[in-house]
Amino acid sequence: MAAKLLDGKALASTMREEIRCRAAALKERTGVTPGLGVILVGDDPASRSYVTAKERALAEAGMASVDIRLSATTTQEELLATVARLNADPKVHGILVQLPLPKGLDTDAIIRAIAPEKDVDGFTPENVGRMVLGETCYLPCTPHGVLQMLMRAGVETSGRHAVVIGRSNIVGKPMAMLLSRKGPGGNATVTICHTGTKDLASYTRQADILVVASGRPNTVTGDMVKPGAVVIDVGVNRVPCAGTKTGYRLCGDCDFESVSQVASLMTPVPGGVGPMTITMLLENTCLAAERAASCG
Ligand code: GUN
Repeated sequence: MAAKLLDGKALASTMREEIRCRAAALKERTGVTPGLGVILVGDDPASRSYVTAKERALAEAGMASVDIRLSATTTQEELLATVARLNADPKVHGILVQLPLPKGLDTDAIIRAIAPEKDVDGFTPENVGRMVLGETCYLPCTPHGVLQMLMRAGVETSGRHAVVIGRSNIVGKPMAMLLSRKGPGGNATVTICHTGTKDLASYTRQADILVVASGRPNTVTGDMVKPGAVVIDVGVNRVPCAGTKTGYRLCGDCDFESVSQVASLMTPVPGGVGPMTITMLLENTCLAAERAASCG
């Protein structure tokens, strides 16, 4: 059986149109244009291309971006001062510091410096705590995007076994938390696997829903998947490829060929989770602007 593809690009396009209308309505009502401060430190090519894609999407949704590019030699103090400036800027409703930061910078301290009400990535301890407690917060964009894909595709999560591979703060941990919380898109029984897991396949074969965020190509092959499972591939890996203009091609963390023969529904890479991550960033930025406008 060949899996049906979960088309993140198409869903992202529908949702971005909804968000564009929301942003336009806010502007019409209050004069406020949602704005995101985007900080990129250093010249990592993958980070640069993610940031470019995020800024393009903001512009297409009628939102503003304050684009800050800093050299890889930027000091902790300079970066903290930049975050503080954006915290104080009323035109900036959300702040994104693209990760990973160059070595030598203290990522945790930078994240903690972001005002929680502008933390549209949902990375600050305040937002993470609120998410765990089920309180109003900004949900981290990648797991939130995965949840939207599952819900809008009509995938039942309640009572099913979800296995998440990866325990990063950005994807694995919040993904597991969201799938297990009570409510729509949740109520699943969740297992978290990671680099310390022995016999990974014995867990993945039990998964009705398998979310793969290991950051490593071919982590999951078809023989590790339960027939009919829903597989969400969060990986974005650049692998050298001589025949392409860029010299690389993108692949996920799953072996697409074999997994797609066993799964019932699967996300492709590219065109799966990636466009949804950016879409949820747009939504969080719009929400931050709406909240700021209703307070101001
Ligand atoms: N690096 C990889 N994913 C993300 C993300 O969602 N937000 C930020 N700020 N950096 C990232």
